[in-house]
Amino acid sequence: MIINVLTLFPEMFNNIMGESIIGRAREKGIIEINPINIRDSSKNKHKKVDDYPYGGGSGMVLMNQPIFDSLHSLTKDKDSCRVVYLTPKGKTFNQKIANTFSKEKELVFVCGHYEGIDQRIIDKWVTDEISIGDYVLTGGELPAMVIIDSVCRLIPGVLGKDESFEDESFYNGLLEYPHYTRPATYDGESVPDILLSGNHKLINEWRTRESLKITIERRPDLIVKLFQRDDISMKEKTKLKKLLVEIVSEEI
Ligand code: ADE
Repeated sequence: MIINVLTLFPEMFNNIMGESIIGRAREKGIIEINPINIRDSSKNKHKKVDDYPYGGGSGMVLMNQPIFDSLHSLTKDKDSCRVVYLTPKGKTFNQKIANTFSKEKELVFVCGHYEGIDQRIIDKWVTDEISIGDYVLTGGELPAMVIIDSVCRLIPGVLGKDESFEDESFYNGLLEYPHYTRPATYDGESVPDILLSGNHKLINEWRTRESLKITIERRPDLIVKLFQRDDISMKEKTKLKKLLVEIVSEEI
């Protein structure tokens, strides 16, 4: 996948996205991340990139020309690739959007600053306005990196065998069960016996139950969503309902 990012701070990407799993995937050529400095396209003699908003008010708006020219040179055919603009006004990012984005050959991210970008750029070029949550950050770089990270880990070959994400399964969409590693007793606390039993069937059952328990406690909305999914059969939903009743009665 090719990911082009229009930003005023390209070094942020080279630093953070040059490390760990994403850094290795870039080295292997599985993904290409190109941070492009918006300022380099400015035709202003002082390389200015912002301007006053029409109608007055506080704050500045990123100038049209450098963004427009960068987008033009990147995407010869305007309709050929998704252009994602990061904004608190956008649709809230989630795993489903990450899955959709991960199937694209090429993505362009536009990172705003100050009061954002001119509406005409959004109307003409942007295919997706995305927010990473209900809070306001100083710019679109961190949101872009969050999205790029979650999208790239879904691309085949990016995660190693040991890091691989779970196959789409009926309990995918729940919070994760707790993890433990050696030693079996640490600071007086022991690992649950079942995890030392070597019985994988029982271990999987324990993990499913623990996932359900923590999801009921912290994110009951996710349980409701499971029952709304049409890729889960009625039979699986009945099994899940039975398990939920068992867990809730144990807790009372
Ligand atoms: N820019 C500033 N805050 C943002 C947010 N929460 N999501 C996406 N882009 C942003």
